[in-house]
Amino acid sequence: MTVRRELLARGLGLTLETADLPGLGTPQRGKVREGYRLTDGTRLLVTTDRVSAFDRVLGTLPFKGQVLNGLSAWWFRQTASLVPNHLIDVPDPQAMRVIDCTPLPVEFVVRAYLTGVTSTSIWTHYARGEREFCGHRLPDGLRKNEPLPRPILTPSTKASHGAHDVSVSRERLLAAGAVTSDELDQVEPMVLALFEQGRRVCAERGLLLVDTKYEIGRTTDGRLVVIDEVHTPDSSRFWRASTYEDRLRAGLEPESLDKEWLRRWLVERGYRGEGEPPRLNDEVRIEAAGRYVEVFEALTGRPFEPDLEPPLERLRRNVASLVGSDRAGPVA
Ligand SMILES: Nc1ncnc2c1ncn2[C@@H]1O[C@H](COP(=O)(O)OP(=O)(O)O)[C@@H](O)[C@H]1O
Ligand SMILES: [Mg+2]
Repeated sequence: MTVRRELLARGLGLTLETADLPGLGTPQRGKVREGYRLTDGTRLLVTTDRVSAFDRVLGTLPFKGQVLNGLSAWWFRQTASLVPNHLIDVPDPQAMRVIDCTPLPVEFVVRAYLTGVTSTSIWTHYARGEREFCGHRLPDGLRKNEPLPRPILTPSTKASHGAHDVSVSRERLLAAGAVTSDELDQVEPMVLALFEQGRRVCAERGLLLVDTKYEIGRTTDGRLVVIDEVHTPDSSRFWRASTYEDRLRAGLEPESLDKEWLRRWLVERGYRGEGEPPRLNDEVRIEAAGRYVEVFEALTGRPFEPDLEPPLERLRRNVASLVGSDRAGPVA
C-alpha cells in the first residue's frame, strides 16, 4: 500500500457528513456545503466530505472537504487582485469565513473544449449537427474533446432542488428575469478573466482546465464578487496535459482528474441519476479521493497533508470564537 492509500484509508473513518455547530443557528444546506450566517454579518461556509454526482448526494470521500476548502482558498487568494471574491479567512481546514452575499440565480459555466456526455452537453449538441450553443456560433469540423476557438460563457439557470440545470443563451437568461443585462455585462468579463488565469496556472502545472462553473453574489454594498468555490475538481473538469494530444489522435478519451472518474464508475453500474444509486464501497471512495488529492498537489505544488483530528470536534473548537457578535472578528 502506498503512503497516500494508507492515509486515505485512515481518512475513511474521519469524514464529516453534516456539520452540526451549536450556537450558530440552522445552516443553509447545499449538496456539499453548509452555510451559517454569523451575527457580525459574515458567513461561515463549511465544506463537508459529501460527494454528489448527477445532482445527487452519494456518500462521503475521505478528506474531500479539506481538499476543496484548501484549494478554493488557494485560488481565491491567488486571483483576488484580478477578480474580487468572498473570502475573508480560513478558521478551519474545512471552513471559510466569507462575505455574506445574495447569490445570482445563475451558474456561470465557462468552457474551453468541445466535450461532455450528458444529453445537454455541448458535444452532444454539436454531434447532432447543431452549430449554435447558448448563442455562440461554433465552427464546422471540430472533433470531440478538441478546443473551442476561444473559451465561451454558457450560463445555466439554477434548477430548483433535485432538477438538472439547463444551459441558455443571453436572451433567454434575460427573458427569464434571472439577471439584468447590466449584471451580465459586469459578470462576463469577470468570469472570462478568471478562467484565463485559471487556464494559465493549470497549464504551468501540467493540467488542462477544460470547463468550470462559477457562482456570483451581490454584497450588501452592491458589489458583484465570486462566491462558493473556484477551480476545484467538483466545479471543473481537468485533463492531464501530457497525454492529451496522443490520446486525442488515438481516439481515446482524455485522462480526467476530476469527478468524471466517479461518474464513469456509476454509469458502468447502470446509474445515470435516476433511481437508487449504487453504494460507494471503500475502494471506490479511496480511488475517487486520490484524484481530488492529485489535483490539489499538482496545482498548489505542495504535498497534501490533511489534518487527522476528528473533524466535528476540530470544527467546533475552531469556530467557537465566532459564536456571538461581541467575540466575532472584524471583516478584513
Ligand atoms: N458568500 C456567499 N454568500 C451567500 N451564499 C453563498 C456564498 N457562497 C456560497 N453560497 C451558497 O452556499 C451554498 C453552497 O453549498 P453547495 O453545497 O456548494 O451548493 P450546491 O448544492 O448548490 O452545489 C450554495 O447555495 C451557494 O450559492
Ligand atoms: Mg456549490
